[in-house]
Amino acid sequence: MQKIKDLFSEKFVDNEIETRGWIYRWRESGKIIFIILRDSTGIIQVTVSKDMVGEEDFNSAKSAGIESSVIVSGILKRDERAPGGFEVLAKKFVLVGKSLNFPITKDKSDEFLLDMRHLWLRSREMTAILKIRSTVFEFLHDFFKREGYYEVQAPMFVSSAVEGGSTLFEVPYFGRKAYLTQSSQFYLETFIFSLENVYTVAPSFRAEKSRTRRHLTEFWHCEAEVAWIGNDEMMKIEERMIMHILDGVLKNNKEELILLKRDISKLEDITLPFNRMEYADIIKLGKDVGLDLDYGSDLGADEEYAITQKFEKPTFVIHFPKEIKPFYHRPDPQNPSVVLNHDLLAPEGYGEIIGGGERIFDLDELLQRIKEERLNPEDYSWYIDLRKYGSVPHSGFGLGIDRLVWWIAGLEHIKYAVPYPRNVRRLVP
Ligand code: 4AD
Ligand code: MG
Repeated sequence: MQKIKDLFSEKFVDNEIETRGWIYRWRESGKIIFIILRDSTGIIQVTVSKDMVGEEDFNSAKSAGIESSVIVSGILKRDERAPGGFEVLAKKFVLVGKSLNFPITKDKSDEFLLDMRHLWLRSREMTAILKIRSTVFEFLHDFFKREGYYEVQAPMFVSSAVEGGSTLFEVPYFGRKAYLTQSSQFYLETFIFSLENVYTVAPSFRAEKSRTRRHLTEFWHCEAEVAWIGNDEMMKIEERMIMHILDGVLKNNKEELILLKRDISKLEDITLPFNRMEYADIIKLGKDVGLDLDYGSDLGADEEYAITQKFEKPTFVIHFPKEIKPFYHRPDPQNPSVVLNHDLLAPEGYGEIIGGGERIFDLDELLQRIKEERLNPEDYSWYIDLRKYGSVPHSGFGLGIDRLVWWIAGLEHIKYAVPYPRNVRRLVP
């Protein structure tokens, strides 16, 4: 049994082969049925003629609809007219799972394809995206393994907010209130006292009502936390991580990027170091491109789109005003009105893919910020504890993995980067 991709080889020409997959295209022309067969590795033309396969198999091929699963054996031939230059002349055609009236036909609406995601995953576009996504996860783990991190797991049911109360998902929890986690950061901070360098790959949840090209209510979050380092070192780690993943995708998924019509040169041209820009300068730049921004404005999807459209590499934005960032960010001792943080903005209009920075490690400073933000210290008692028993300077970040896939694959909307996207309206399939 050969995988379809392996058939594209001179060594099989005029030899017997056997392969299996799903019917991608079907066409009858006189006494011959032309099938394009698809498996996880590619597509190939299969020609079924009554003379070669006999009446019974020919009738099977005739009745098999689009997306039927089949096993074919026959002879591999060179044929310049066939896609990829090879075809299989079937000698045996076995219908394994019939498919009648496959609901996805040409020119269906985006909403319809989302309703049919469980079947649309078979499309060549989704297959390409899923392969790129798989590489991204693989190289993410590979990066942390190479750099000596421990992988840890945090709970998804939590009792308080990390990134502000407005996007918390509340869930009933045996007569109490629980929330779905917005970020594993605070738990990651607890691990550094034993493991020093840790990371996790897990879902995070945000009750995000805004409908943008980049927001999901459930997204995959890679978060890392490192003892004894500051914001600058953290950014260097992230640069290496992003480059490692980019290299991995460029090495393993050229074919998929081409199928998705991604301008690959834009990814190949990215080199280290990434750019660094002060928040204050980003605001100036935003004004220059016509945005209505003031110092102190937060940057949303539209603003970042306009700002990063002409960027050619990822850009770290540093030193945000403390008022527009969560309480845990460490104010800069040189200028306490800004924090030692960074957002990493992807180029070509994609915008934020990472948020991170240095954490407050001094007990009094943390209590002060919690008070300023009018939060209840009791909600953060264990987090505060970490500043009481051997606190250390430390930094971390959170990478939106779906956003990374969205940018690398050059997709229009984040919903294409995820097999089963979740937003305000979508819970099925
Ligand atoms: O910037 P955020 O909110 O930062 C945190 O959650 C920190 N606690 C992370 C940390 O330092 N450990 O989220 C981090 C990243 C964003 O940059 C974005 O890529 C992604 O998570 N993200 C989302 N992705 C898809 N849909 C959403 N609604 C997202 N919200 C955040
Ligand atoms: Mg952020």
